[in-house]
Amino acid sequence: MYSQEEQQSLYSLSKEYLDEGSAIRQQSADQQINELRQLIVYHEYRYYIKHDPVVSDYEYDQLFKQLEALEEAHPELLTPDSPTQRVSTDLTEDFPSVEHLVPMLSLANSYNAEDLYEFDRQIKRYANIPEEQDIEYAVEPKYDGGSIAVIYENDQLSRGATRGNGQMGEEMTNNARVIRSIPLKAAFSEYGIQKVELRGEVLIRKDAFERINQKRAEEGLTLFANARNTATGGLRMKDPQEVAKRGLEAFIYTLGYAADEKGESVLEKFNTHKESLDMLEKLGFKVPAEPEERTVCRSIREVVDFCTGWEEKREAYPYEIDGMVVKVNDRELQERTGYTSHHPRWSIAYKFKAKQATSKLLKVEYQVGKIGSITPVAKIAPVQLAGVTVASVSLHNEDFITSKDLRIGDTVLVERAGDVIPYIVKAMDDLRDGSEQPIEFPRYCPVNDTAEAVELVRPEGEAAWRCPTCVCGAQNLQQIIFHVSKNAMDIDGMGKSIIERFYELGWLRTIADVYRLDYDKIAALEGFGQKSADNLKASIERAKQNPIHRLLHSLSIHHLGRKVSRIIAAEVSHVLELQNWTAEDFTNIKDVGPVVAENIQSFFQDEHNIKMLQEMEELGVNLHQTEEDIPKAVSGEGPFAGKTILFTGSLQTMSRKEAQAKAEAAGAKNISAVSGNLDFLVVGEKAGSKLKKAKELGTVTILTEQEFLEQLP
Ligand code: IVH
Repeated sequence: MYSQEEQQSLYSLSKEYLDEGSAIRQQSADQQINELRQLIVYHEYRYYIKHDPVVSDYEYDQLFKQLEALEEAHPELLTPDSPTQRVSTDLTEDFPSVEHLVPMLSLANSYNAEDLYEFDRQIKRYANIPEEQDIEYAVEPKYDGGSIAVIYENDQLSRGATRGNGQMGEEMTNNARVIRSIPLKAAFSEYGIQKVELRGEVLIRKDAFERINQKRAEEGLTLFANARNTATGGLRMKDPQEVAKRGLEAFIYTLGYAADEKGESVLEKFNTHKESLDMLEKLGFKVPAEPEERTVCRSIREVVDFCTGWEEKREAYPYEIDGMVVKVNDRELQERTGYTSHHPRWSIAYKFKAKQATSKLLKVEYQVGKIGSITPVAKIAPVQLAGVTVASVSLHNEDFITSKDLRIGDTVLVERAGDVIPYIVKAMDDLRDGSEQPIEFPRYCPVNDTAEAVELVRPEGEAAWRCPTCVCGAQNLQQIIFHVSKNAMDIDGMGKSIIERFYELGWLRTIADVYRLDYDKIAALEGFGQKSADNLKASIERAKQNPIHRLLHSLSIHHLGRKVSRIIAAEVSHVLELQNWTAEDFTNIKDVGPVVAENIQSFFQDEHNIKMLQEMEELGVNLHQTEEDIPKAVSGEGPFAGKTILFTGSLQTMSRKEAQAKAEAAGAKNISAVSGNLDFLVVGEKAGSKLKKAKELGTVTILTEQEFLEQLP
């Protein structure tokens, strides 16, 4: 759209307006207004089309304000295509029905490679092309928003309308004008075009959608269901200022009508679909970008590859798309192939696997977690969602069920986006026949299979009901599963089903049992053998040497995550020291809150837990701080900031404790052993093996007590 030189001169002119202010105002107002409009249109193009601005938002605003001021002083120079005129302050009373210049047709759908091959064969039959001859296709994303048609006359945007029923749409020019990727003027006349109708899709970026919903949540407003509704709803808002706030964007994907001064079609000037999009791109419209988003394939085989390749890219793409659109590239061949009353025969949508489906909610089962939280799980009639069969969907907690008013027997809408776990969007309440049953959340532990009933509790401020005293062992099983998991002790080859099997065999009751498994018995189990047993043994032996932050995290202490586990690990030399810590000792550490402090403290007050940890230590599990537990970089200034330090021998002017406190105040971390991780060794009198080892290592800076004191800030 802009040549290199044009961009350079627009950029330097912007700087002149920004830097010199009044100096430039010696020119006529007319000229300044024209220049400022050009500059703003350019910066909007860089921002809204290219997503690559060359001035800051602040600078853009300054240019905009200069233009507004000039236009206010010279109302006679105001024109509707000025960038200041995008947002009208008039409310739209209604959206009048308007006729499209040519009908906006639909597309036929295809779902797999075979459908695409059949589409290709059909075109060849219609157009009398031999089977072995390849056809060229243009392929681009199928945007999932609201379709629009925009008309330009004499290079000015003159009308915007929704698709409506394809013949008639709703006129919403004011709303189209606030969409900054739709230029208010475009030089179609350079192509001999006097009147043109473009088709495209109005969308909202996925991240912008998230931000809008976040803001709505903060304001206590109901959330939008998805990006599509947010975009289509936005198009039909009465107040263009509100529409502007949604940050809508428009991709243009086809030229529907183009005529010259005499009203004669000039569509045939464009030999291919690609050529027409290239022109629109040059005129400053947002079209799918080449070659990532749109491409020309030389055969249907290439089309299949391009479409299936996009299926994987779909989730990461910033806009919602629900498939690809395949179009015969050659315009003349399009005409030969023709149309049905419903869709062009020369184009087809390749639909990605559905992300949403409806199913029946058959029953609700309950699972207990590692800290006793009860999670309801909906069992639904199995459905295919984005290529995976889904039969169970988590309902999270009682409030979720109540807020969606879910009932057994309901038809529910289920959604699965990419790798995200499936969830229930809503119950289709108009499909109810009265036989649906309410879901009663249990008051007693539903997992417990012993005779002793355990009443559930719901701690204040939490969403989950919990089983406070597990009598059936179900929580232990979950704790073991978590203990060995990747984020915790990371024991390879010990998946959930293996743990469940060992648990049923009575081999596992607590996490300590993981370290006393009998590998001969395992080797003899069906489906195992010596090799698997040996591999499992090797993984468990490796895990025994884990740093203690992993062990702390693996203990299923409520709210104790990886980060705080690391922070606490750095503070102790042995895990069992924590028995003597008060809740205050924990909260004295930055980033440790009172709730987690209390949970850790009460864990270490429970003698069963202490006994279990002692057993684990006897079985070879490491409970001592290791180098990995010590944070490598601590921020601060001075020679000791972020460094590790160790005092050895007897100090003369201060106690060991005082020295350590001084070092810490200077940003250093005291550690207890000489290793490659040690930066400074401060030697007092009669320093022995530590000094010797530090010298051997050669990487440790050795300081006398005096040198240490001198270097303190
Ligand atoms: S071309 C004559 N291209 O899909 C061809 N349509 O069922 C008309 N859509 O509502 C459509 N992305 O708004 C075309 N790249 C694209 C598209 C696209 C999305 C929408 C279109 C229409 C529906 C077709």
